[in-house]
Amino acid sequence: MTSDGGPEGGPGGGAILFDDIGLLYTADPEREEIGGAALIVEDGVVAWVGPSSSAPRPGTGGRAVPAADRRVGLGGRAVIPGFVDSHAHLVFAGDRTAEFAARMAGRPYSAGGIRTTVAATREAADDTLATNAEALVAEMLAQGTTTVEIKSGYGLTVEDERRSLEIAGRFTAETTYLGAHVVPPGVTADDYVSTVTGPMLDACAPYARWVDVFCERGAFDEDQSREILAAGIRAGLGARIHAGQLGEGPGVRVACELGAASADHCTHLTDADVAALADSGVVATLLPGAEFSTRSPYPDARRLLDAGVSVALATDCNPGSSFTSSMPFCVALAVREMRMSPQEAVRAATAGGARALRRSDVGVLRVGARADLAVLSAPSYVHLAYRPGVPLVAQVWKDGRRVV
Ligand code: NIG
Ligand code: FE
Repeated sequence: MTSDGGPEGGPGGGAILFDDIGLLYTADPEREEIGGAALIVEDGVVAWVGPSSSAPRPGTGGRAVPAADRRVGLGGRAVIPGFVDSHAHLVFAGDRTAEFAARMAGRPYSAGGIRTTVAATREAADDTLATNAEALVAEMLAQGTTTVEIKSGYGLTVEDERRSLEIAGRFTAETTYLGAHVVPPGVTADDYVSTVTGPMLDACAPYARWVDVFCERGAFDEDQSREILAAGIRAGLGARIHAGQLGEGPGVRVACELGAASADHCTHLTDADVAALADSGVVATLLPGAEFSTRSPYPDARRLLDAGVSVALATDCNPGSSFTSSMPFCVALAVREMRMSPQEAVRAATAGGARALRRSDVGVLRVGARADLAVLSAPSYVHLAYRPGVPLVAQVWKDGRRVV
């Protein structure tokens, strides 16, 4: 056995025992936290989880659980599932620093800045877009994110949306067709919806798992949003929606009616919206980086949690409204600004994100799940909020292989 978990560690190299974990947050409701824990990984999946004192060790054979070939001692540090960032816009070019600075000087956010990024993205070569996305995915990984959803939505032509999704697919299986981000200049809304539900969908569906629409005043209305999501569903995609970011609107209603996996933002909700989310099981994905970066009121997480709604946290990483790639930052905001407990926030950032992507193999550390995990240089996940802005992610393992 070796005690080093170097980047070379990987599946096929035998079982690995992660030992001396001060606090293991599993996100498994059966056993959500284990103090003094150990975890065994084999072939890239979790093979055993439990108290360190009862971990199978060499010489204790005759069990279904392998005794590990390697030991990675974690010196009392905390371990959490890799974050599942279920909402990100990473395929773009250009920069909106000036817009951010103007906003901080008092100008309100409007989604009009999307068109600035669309113009830069259309001009950019595939390699530029891929290099930009790769850098953001690397930033995310270094901060503990092992699963990310990536949307198109800054191309808004058939070919620019198609290539955005092809590039997104180089980094994740969770690709989302967001041709319906805004109506691009020079096209009528009716013509654009026909394109989004027709030739653009045909070109994009082979590269996408999800369809999304920005349902908001100034973007797409209720009927258009319903039509766009329904067309995507008919093409075999799962539905998700940007709903209630800037004001109350029909987005949550459409999401619940169509069985969307998630309604995202949920900053402005009616009581009927909250009840519909609770009844339907549609996940409410909260994106506090957007409120931070647009200096807007945060969503009312307590109202959702108290009503029994499933809540996820994600970054919304994009160059306009939320240019952060950091799930730890979002956890800290959720705790400090949205009154989520540290456990609720980490649950939302792991199992919640997985649920928003209808995944049961990530965002949780239970037997059979993928061995995607983050080791914190802290004794507890609470430090993610208690020590905001501090780079606490010491190691990241994906599919049982050390990647950071
Ligand atoms: O989720 N709301 C629409 N889309 C992004 C904003 C994109 C932008 O400003 O470029 C969001 O916040
Ligand atoms: Fe978004």
